[in-house]
Amino acid sequence: MPILLLSPGRKLDRWTEALRKTDPAVPVFLPEDKVPERDISFILAWDHPRGCFVRYPGLRCISSFGAGVDHLVSDREIPENVRLVRIIDPALSNDMLEFTLAVIMKHLRKLNIYNSYKTEVKWKKHGYRRIRETGVGIMGTGVIGHHVADGLSRIGFDVSGWSRTMGGKASYRKFHGVEQLNEFLSRCEILVCLLPLTDETRGIIDYHLLKSLPGDAYLVNLGRGAHIVEADLFRALDKGLISGAHLDVFESEPLFEAHPFWKNSKIDITPHVASLTDPLSVAPQIMENYHLVMQGREPKNQVSRSRGY
Ligand code: NAP
Ligand code: GLV
Repeated sequence: MPILLLSPGRKLDRWTEALRKTDPAVPVFLPEDKVPERDISFILAWDHPRGCFVRYPGLRCISSFGAGVDHLVSDREIPENVRLVRIIDPALSNDMLEFTLAVIMKHLRKLNIYNSYKTEVKWKKHGYRRIRETGVGIMGTGVIGHHVADGLSRIGFDVSGWSRTMGGKASYRKFHGVEQLNEFLSRCEILVCLLPLTDETRGIIDYHLLKSLPGDAYLVNLGRGAHIVEADLFRALDKGLISGAHLDVFESEPLFEAHPFWKNSKIDITPHVASLTDPLSVAPQIMENYHLVMQGREPKNQVSRSRGY
């Protein structure tokens, strides 16, 4: 039985290569190979056309290409018996730590200002806040968020983490649940969102939340675009409640040309590159799940449809 790779608009050569190299015995196909739909039991998917999975009567498991599964969980037409799994990869978590550190340091050391001075041929020095003087809050201390929080804490930041449930001990201060959200926010001079997108977290970064941050706070959104209420972010920036934002993810991607984010000087944009899944690094876990499913066993890293992540 083959594996089907479904990710419209994405070049998949590195993925087919990595999977075939990991297990040459397993046929790996793309939609253009026109494999009969009844033969497909395992699909690797990203941004699939809504409702398309009902076409595969023998489908047993869908794996996300990445850590996020909002694209799968939100498709209510996926039959209940189909298992949903995601990627958990130390390299993905570590890439996120490195990116988060880069964005925070860019902000603390005012590198954008010096970039603009180069165009103006201007020599002017500014003071800066040090790592040990900076409170960083991570919203969503799951697999990736915990790695980021732990790494930043070891570097010397004063780190707080916020999650749905309490979880175990950590090198940083932990908060959980709606009742501890305000206390958490009050410690975040820099707020990093690494939440999954669920019914509960959609629009969580609204005016009220931004107003609860210390004055002059900086927002870094690496979760999903729909975590932010865009109009509220503009209002908070206009009123000077927060000093700026770095956005890596957007409600609609690619971010369209006329979007006001592009023109706002307080907003920095990267094109969803904080942490990219490396096909070679994750092909073994995808193949392992494929084999587990083919043996009628439970795959690893399953997603809870009721929790939404
Ligand atoms: P994960 O392991 O599932 O962790 C999710 C975390 O969010 C958990 O700590 C969970 O709390 C918390 N959470 C969920 N719902 C919550 C709520 N209502 N209130 C408070 N906390 C809540 O996910 P992950 O692997 O760390 O990935 C997180 C997200 O990062 C992905 O879903 C994806 O959107 C994003 N991501 C972005 C990029 C990029 O390049 N920008 C790359 C990879 C991933 P509990 O611990 O209590 O369950
Ligand atoms: C990327 O956004 C991922 O979810 O892996």
